[in-house]
Amino acid sequence: MDRNKVCIITLPKIIDERGNLSFFQNNQQIPFDIKRTYWIYDVPGGEVRGGHAFRTQQEFIVALSGAFDVVLHDGKDEQRFHLNRSYYGLYVPNKIWRQMDNFSTNSLALIVSDRNYEEADYIRDFSEFNIIING
Ligand code: TYD
Repeated sequence: MDRNKVCIITLPKIIDERGNLSFFQNNQQIPFDIKRTYWIYDVPGGEVRGGHAFRTQQEFIVALSGAFDVVLHDGKDEQRFHLNRSYYGLYVPNKIWRQMDNFSTNSLALIVSDRNYEEADYIRDFSEFNIIING
């Protein structure tokens, strides 16, 4: 799946015996300016988050702790990404259906976006998403 450049981005890792450090900043490691940060935590076993696409916003998702899967659908193909390290993340462009599942105990998902929260930017119905992508 490479429509709009879905990709895993490996972040810098400053290895230090006092503890390692990773980072990302606007338009360097990730291809957009960060406008909003949110995180998902305390997810009960078996729960699913997401299940939507965005009309315009882009996101970058990192498993800061633990592990979970991000399942992407571009209107044709589906691909599952397993995130389980804090030094890489998944870039999700707009108009990609995404779901997050398979959360491990105590997992922490960090998400940064280039837009403020706006419900109107969500596409929450998969058949509407399909029409937008495939006509
Ligand atoms: P939502 O993005 O629908 O959660 P998910 O797709 O991960 O299941 O967000 C759930 C609710 O949280 C949503 O109805 C409104 C609120 N919310 C905000 O107020 N601001 C935010 O930045 C986000 C991401 C959600």
